[in-house]
Amino acid sequence: MLLRSLLFACFLFFLGNMATMAQAHDYVGVKKCKMCHNKPATGAQFKQWSESKHATAMQSLKGDEAKDPKCLKCHATAGSVKAANMGTLTVEEGVSCETCHGPGADYNPTAIMKDKAKAMAAGMIVPDEKLCKTCHNAESPHFKGFNYAEYSKKIAHPNPAAAK
Ligand code: HEC
Ligand code: HEC
Ligand code: HEC
Ligand code: HEC
Repeated sequence: MLLRSLLFACFLFFLGNMATMAQAHDYVGVKKCKMCHNKPATGAQFKQWSESKHATAMQSLKGDEAKDPKCLKCHATAGSVKAANMGTLTVEEGVSCETCHGPGADYNPTAIMKDKAKAMAAGMIVPDEKLCKTCHNAESPHFKGFNYAEYSKKIAHPNPAAAK
């Protein structure tokens, strides 16, 4: 019995470690991504994003709301990041690249970015509907419903040079 519970405790510890490992990458903030992702020939993702409501999400929070963790968790990437992993991310940038693509400190070097498998191993995420719905849900005081196909189109920033 004792052995079994010991083994079970080890197993839980192992699982816990896996979860922390998956979140251990630091954030770099949108300025870093902009350095390489603002060229018209590859889709100017920074410009596309800065014209979206995600970039201005902090402007919707007035006065003390801009410091309220209950609002920040959806209105800023930084709102759900542990202090230790903040890196150069700022609250002001709102809902930025790393909310949807994962914390970028380890995948942003060119040699890793060019290789999707390597980038994913270094923390890059391929966003899906489930990820959107962590914020686009009825917990939002201004929820307007969420249609993935329609909403994705509104924020699309494809790379016309990428082989698909
Ligand atoms: C040093 C340059 C550089 C930086 C900095 C950089 N990227 Fe990239 N990224 C690239 C290159 C090169 C590619 C390959 C495609 C291309 O040429 O645009 C790429 C591809 C991507 C892709 C597509 C991956 C795929 O294959 O589907 C995503 C998503 C991405 N970057 C997000 C980011 C985010 C978010 C940041 C900031 C955290 C960032 N990148 C920072 C150079 C960079
Ligand atoms: C971290 C939370 C978060 C995630 C994840 C997120 N969003 Fe958002 N989104 C917001 C917030 C907050 C706003 C509203 C910003 C504002 O107006 O202040 C918003 C607004 C939008 C809007 C504009 C809606 C309008 O009223 O015009 C679209 C479109 C959108 N999001 C699409 C998406 C899609 C597609 C995904 C997933 C790929 C996604 N969002 C993921 C927080 C998020
Ligand atoms: C669960 C995530 C979530 C939380 C928590 C949240 N918001 Fe939002 N908020 C959103 C999303 C997503 C939108 C975009 C509206 C939509 O398309 O559903 C939004 C839109 C808004 C808007 C714009 C309304 C409009 O009509 O366009 C304001 C203002 C706002 N939120 C304020 C707040 C305040 C203040 C708080 C904290 C009390 C808060 N939000 C908490 C996700 C959230
Ligand atoms: C609200 C979520 C969201 C935000 C914020 C966001 N993206 Fe994306 N991004 C997506 C989605 C969804 C895709 C399409 C993924 C797919 O299905 O291939 C995408 C695709 C990309 C691609 C690949 C384009 C291609 O066609 O190969 C690049 C590069 C990229 N994003 C960079 C960025 C950068 C840089 C930022 C910040 C300036 C950013 N994204 C912000 C959700 C987001």
